[in-house]
Amino acid sequence: MNYQHPKRYTVTAALPYANGPLHIGHLAGAYLPADIYVRLLRLLEQDVLFICGTDEHGVAITIRAMKEGLSPQEIIDKYHQLIKDTFAAFHISFDIFSRTSHPLHHQTAAEFFKHFYDKGLLIEKESEQLYDPQAQLFLPDRYVVGTCPKCGYDKAYGDQCESCGTALSPNELINPVSVLSGSQPILKSTKHWFFPLDKFQERLEDYILKQHSHWKPNVLGQCKSWLSEGLAPRAITRDLDWGVKVPLPQAQGKVLYVWFDAPIGYITATKEWAMYRAEQNAEYSPEDWVPYWKSSDTKLVHFIGKDNIVFHCIIFPAILMAHGEYIYADEVPANEFLNLEGEKISTSRNWAVWLHEYLQDFPGKTDVLRYVLCATLPETKDNNFTWEDFQNRNNNELVAILGNFVNRVLVLVHKYYQGVVPPLHSLESTDLELLQNVKTCGQRVVENILQFRFREALQEAMNLARAGNKYLAEVEPWHLITTQPQRVSTCLNIALQVVAALSIIFEPFLPETSQKIKQMLGVEKVRWLWKDLLCAELIQEGKQLASPVLLFEKIESNLIQKQIDKLRATSSLSLNNKEAVSVATASAAPLSCNPPKPIIQYDDFDKIDIRVATVLQAEKIKGADKLLKLTLDTGVDIRTVVSGIALYYTPEEIIGKQVIVLLNLAPRKLRGIESQGMILMAENSQGKLVFVQPSNTIENGAIVK
Ligand code: MF3
Ligand code: ZN
Repeated sequence: MNYQHPKRYTVTAALPYANGPLHIGHLAGAYLPADIYVRLLRLLEQDVLFICGTDEHGVAITIRAMKEGLSPQEIIDKYHQLIKDTFAAFHISFDIFSRTSHPLHHQTAAEFFKHFYDKGLLIEKESEQLYDPQAQLFLPDRYVVGTCPKCGYDKAYGDQCESCGTALSPNELINPVSVLSGSQPILKSTKHWFFPLDKFQERLEDYILKQHSHWKPNVLGQCKSWLSEGLAPRAITRDLDWGVKVPLPQAQGKVLYVWFDAPIGYITATKEWAMYRAEQNAEYSPEDWVPYWKSSDTKLVHFIGKDNIVFHCIIFPAILMAHGEYIYADEVPANEFLNLEGEKISTSRNWAVWLHEYLQDFPGKTDVLRYVLCATLPETKDNNFTWEDFQNRNNNELVAILGNFVNRVLVLVHKYYQGVVPPLHSLESTDLELLQNVKTCGQRVVENILQFRFREALQEAMNLARAGNKYLAEVEPWHLITTQPQRVSTCLNIALQVVAALSIIFEPFLPETSQKIKQMLGVEKVRWLWKDLLCAELIQEGKQLASPVLLFEKIESNLIQKQIDKLRATSSLSLNNKEAVSVATASAAPLSCNPPKPIIQYDDFDKIDIRVATVLQAEKIKGADKLLKLTLDTGVDIRTVVSGIALYYTPEEIIGKQVIVLLNLAPRKLRGIESQGMILMAENSQGKLVFVQPSNTIENGAIVK
């Protein structure tokens, strides 16, 4: 491959909002590919900086704070830490993980604004916007709902009607209400500063369409559609009290728009990295960040998900162009979305695999998820994660191919040579072929990663382990140990070189596994030697190896079923979608004979509060043909529970009935109604539901145990 490394790389991964935990979609969208890329560059001994941090401004944070009853500061502190810890657990190897609430960032972002303001670049404009008088906030478009002027759907959002697909602006809605307070928004006049994106149209066209026409089609496609519509000035300030204050005396109560300040956060984080390094070591200077952002021999790469494309390919480059001193992105390898069990991942509906929960449920298995996600990256189109695939890839690939090969080689070397690397004797063609394979697999891994084809790269890496297994099966050293000891010695020496090569080749993908292999081989660091592997021995003859440990273990179906059950039980996707999941997994076990769940202790059971309650009221929910909104007398209180039973019971039929309710289930919102508990039902294999009831009347609040 004809690839010339630049002098240095600046690699960024989108700054996640500090308003919630991370899920698999985050890893697959940006952070895992970025980490693989950076790890490879480090192996190739390139100068690379890997930058990230949390995005801590914007209305998303204030709203989360309102929902959780915490202050915005408490929210960002909580999620910054959780996100940082989660990334660390998955070995995402940032050089710095900063946060945009850092004072240095406020200063840096404000300087950009001031620089533009002083140049006379910004446009000052008064306009009328929707304002929630009760929440005292100007409303982002998504936070206004009302009736669609086109089709009459009564839950259209201020930016789009999800029923007919029309793009809307909030003041077109009939009877708009604020989703924050339910009150009617009023129009209020306010002044903002606009960045003249239109002035950069030509330069951006040149930059994207001429100089970067090799970008992925999904990225170029979005850019082209923006460019062809014609760029317009964009407001870069907001009326909020949370964010980077607009550095002008006449801008009281206004902050920078979060999408203006956040990408500048990459620059701030780089400054912070340099400051920190200079504090640690007098050889370095706090100004060392400069070449990473201002030298034309630096390659700037932004890893992002597809919803961030326009900000990184058009708006941020325009900001950097306007400033004048900075370089802008060379590569924006944006990924599409990862779906989960065939449905779009949704945080609000809790349709997600949360990474911090995965860490608890699958301790010591971060590499398994890294592997499966890398194999399923939505590189060119949306892709789908399923638990069944997770299990299959673990059992059939990690365990059966990679783990099996490494383990067999080490066990044999211990068995025949007490763990001492045996010498090479004469090489046969199968040996040379395998060594050639090491070289070509290594090369292909590098080429594919440098071109952001991570799935293919992983395939190539796995192919080397496959080749190793094939080699052992062909030579069959276990049959030759008494008759041809020299052949066995050569074979296992070579197999060990392949194990060593695997520890390098897999390092970008599976850092923990790579580390384990190196420990077994007793080497600290194996250098990337594929160029001359045919003449270099990675592991020297006579070296004493450590005892073998298993790299991977089989994952049983009950663990997988538990995850699927958890997903279904805790999500508020409509039942329709849940049925799709049970169908998708039915091949493993039909619903009527779900496998028994693992044993729990009485303590686990004792945590759940199940009571008898009486249905006081029942009503249909508009637009949700399976749901009923029930008012229950639980003996403890009167509460609302939303239940998916409308297909089997009419409201009239159940008013006055006694039911069994799970009282202490965390409340969740279904169709905008908070459901405070869950009615227990029995469900047959066709999905028919019937109430579970006490056999005799008993007072409400009676405990089921
Ligand atoms: N917080 C944004 C998101 O999660 C990403 C910000 S990327 C940055 O979609 F460039 F603005 F930092
Ligand atoms: Zn509509």
